[in-house]
Formats: sequence, C-alpha cells, structure tokens
Amino acid sequence: MKIRVLGSAAGGGSPQWNCACAPCRQARRTGRNRLQDTVAISGDGNAWYLLNASPDVRTQILATPELTPGPGLRETPLRGVVLTTAELDHTLGLLSLREAVALRVYATAAVGHALSAAFALRPILQCYTTLEWTDLGSVQPLDGGLEVRRVTVGGKRPRYAHDIPGDDWVSALRITDTWTGFVFVYATCLPAWTSEFDDFVKGADEVLLDGTFATEDELTAGTGRPGSARAMGHLPIADSRVRFAGHPGTRFRYGHLNNTNPSAGDDIARDGLEMGGHRGRDVR
Ligand code: MLT
Ligand code: MN
Ligand code: ZN
Repeated sequence: MKIRVLGSAAGGGSPQWNCACAPCRQARRTGRNRLQDTVAISGDGNAWYLLNASPDVRTQILATPELTPGPGLRETPLRGVVLTTAELDHTLGLLSLREAVALRVYATAAVGHALSAAFALRPILQCYTTLEWTDLGSVQPLDGGLEVRRVTVGGKRPRYAHDIPGDDWVSALRITDTWTGFVFVYATCLPAWTSEFDDFVKGADEVLLDGTFATEDELTAGTGRPGSARAMGHLPIADSRVRFAGHPGTRFRYGHLNNTNPSAGDDIARDGLEMGGHRGRDVR
C-alpha cells in the first residue's frame, strides 16, 4: 500500500492566516508550513483515493507526482474521495475538484445529508461534474485491491449542521491492502480511545492519529480562545500516546495538527510524508 500525507494540519492550516500565537509565528519564521488534513492512498500505485478533501486540495494534488494526470487528456489516477467527517476542512476541497469528468465520493448517510440539507455542496457539485455519491457502509472495496472498514468514533456535528439528524458523523477507517495484508488506520478526529477503537487498531501496521492538540487546554492557553480539546472532539496527544504500549507492532503517527500545537518528533507527520509498505507479497 502506498500512503502519502498531503496535509498534516487541522482546519486553518499552519500558520493560520489570522493567528499570531507562538507556533504560528515560529512557522512563519521557519517556513515550516502545514496544509490541511488530506491523505492519498493506493493499493497498486495506479488507482488513488483521497481521504478527505481539504481546502488546499489543488495545491496538494499539484505537489504529488503520483496524482499527475494522463495519458488520456482528462485522465487522472484519482478514483475517488472518502470522507470521514462533514467538517469544512475535510469537504471544501470537493468544490475544487469540480473539473473532474466524474467524481466518486464515499460518505456516511449523516455526512451526505449535511452536505445536501445544511450546506448544499452536493447539489452544487452535481451541476459541474458527474457526481457518484456512494453510501459508505461498514465494508467498502476500492479499486487497486484496497478494502475499507469504517467505524463511528464520534457524534460531533459540524457547526453548520447542528440541526441535522444522524449518528455517523465522525469515522475512523481501517484500510487493508488485500494483496499484501498491509493495514493502515486513519483516525485524525478521535474524541476518545474506547475499547472498540482499541480493537479497531489491533494488528495495524501504520496509524495516522488525531494530533489536533498536544494537551487538553492548549487552545485557551495559546490564544485565549475558548474550547478544550475533548469538547472539540479531539483526544489530546498526551492522552493517546500512552496507548501505544498496548500495540507494540504498530507504528503510530499524528496528523491534523492545530496551528497552536507545538509538537515535534518522529511520530508527528509532515506534509509529503510517505507511509505504507507491504507484508509478504509486495510485487504484483
Ligand atoms: C474539527 O476538526 O474539529 C473541525 O474541523 C473544526 C472546525 O474547523 O470547525
Ligand atoms: Mn478538522
Ligand atoms: Zn496560531
């Protein structure tokens, strides 16, 4: 399986345009920027999928050689987008993919409903491309030999969709390369580490985890803005790192870092990072 992190920041990116907190000033000084959370995956290196579509998606695709179009004049290796939330930082990029001849999007019913009834992204996009909207169930095969298992990890609605009914608002994905057995878990919005989630990551090779906040009170301490990490649906790094010991064969890394998060180190993803690999057979 090939995995490429196209963006490792939470909504707003890093630095955030209107923020002068210490990590944003540091990012401006050093040029160490992060685009917003989106990951590209492929089982065979030919058929590619995006996990979420951030507002930075055009820049992200142009920076990714694997997503270069051709040989057909409007042929692209991008086969679709899998959404894990209906949040703006995960969905606005769909509007920037409207030039597609056809666009397949996988999403839960709640996410699909919010993107029709509360924010008309879906009907708008339909005016520009052949939109193949697909209900993301618990098991979803993808081209190139990938299989996606989905579990609901949270019920936090986007602010714009506070009155939309539904349960499956925030998903984690467990993606298996059925050819090599390699397993990647993507969970960049994780409100709590439940026993169900612990089972969900069991035996995974790589995990990209919720790295929004380093600590529970980071946002308020750094910017004076209200909101604790958990109240915003994000388990802080301080409380998820302690779980790694229970999964010695798994490599954990953090994505979706908020601009206030000063974390650095081997387990912090950066834009362009390649993850992935193989188990057993690696040649097709
Ligand atoms: C989140 O990850 O919690 C949301 O994207 C927050 C937001 O951008 O409003
Ligand atoms: Mn977000
Ligand atoms: Zn900042």
